[in-house]
Amino acid sequence: MRKREVGHTFLARIGKKRLRPGGKKATEWLISQGNFSSDTNVLEVACNMGTTMIDLVKRYDCRVTGVDVDKHALAKAKKNIEKHHLEEKVTVVQANAMKLPFPDHSFDVVINEAMLTMLPNEAKEKAMKEYYRVLKKGGKLLTHDVMLTKSDEVVVDQLRQAINVRVQPLTQQDWQQRLEASFQHTSVISGPMTLLSPIGMIRDEGIIGAVRIIKNALKKENRPMFLQMFRLFRSKKDVLHFIAICSEKK
Ligand SMILES: C[S@@+](CC[C@H](N)C(=O)[O-])C[C@H]1O[C@@H](n2cnc3c(N)ncnc32)[C@H](O)[C@@H]1O
Repeated sequence: MRKREVGHTFLARIGKKRLRPGGKKATEWLISQGNFSSDTNVLEVACNMGTTMIDLVKRYDCRVTGVDVDKHALAKAKKNIEKHHLEEKVTVVQANAMKLPFPDHSFDVVINEAMLTMLPNEAKEKAMKEYYRVLKKGGKLLTHDVMLTKSDEVVVDQLRQAINVRVQPLTQQDWQQRLEASFQHTSVISGPMTLLSPIGMIRDEGIIGAVRIIKNALKKENRPMFLQMFRLFRSKKDVLHFIAICSEKK
């Protein structure tokens, strides 16, 4: 029997390219806050297969460095970068968000989607300190995570079981307070999670992509995990939201 995968590895295997709670809509909002240009030096933490890095370079011709702890995801990112002939603009490095292998004041923008939620709160703080350290003064931190509309340990437990990760999502106030401890909070949006909603899937993956994902999801070996996630997100849609925050280094 296949070892139970973590949620994002499962979703990537069945064809999902955007593995974040608020999907493309939240990412687009973050990008609109980043003042991207061809001069922007970007770090993407938790880049996974490289979807956002490739999009940023195509749109802005900026330089991007991507890090992730998962070497299989990085191998996929390298393939995708080669497929788009972007090797000169994008570099990937296996590294942990809590110990980034870059000097202080290196980047104009750090983007980090759907990862801090996965870390215990102490580890979140370590990662945030690293983002602060590697950002230039005035640099932007763009984060996107799961947000609880109210504290609810039962739902958090159900989420942990469904995605097989000991996630620790926070309320809006808690996310903002943690970031504002070192960053200047500038702007925030939040809303219902769209990761597996029909409209979110179509917006994130296109109609053909969404149909392919659903076909894979309904295969016998994938159906139980997909349905557990899908049903939880739908039944707890009032509690499980996304949050995107643009913060600035003072
Ligand atoms: C839910 S996926 C999100 C991937 C991508 N950012 C996206 O939005 O599609 C979480 C990613 O975080 C990575 N990750 C988890 N803990 C990490 C850490 N401490 N440092 C760097 N990457 C980490 C995982 O390997 C995975 O690729």
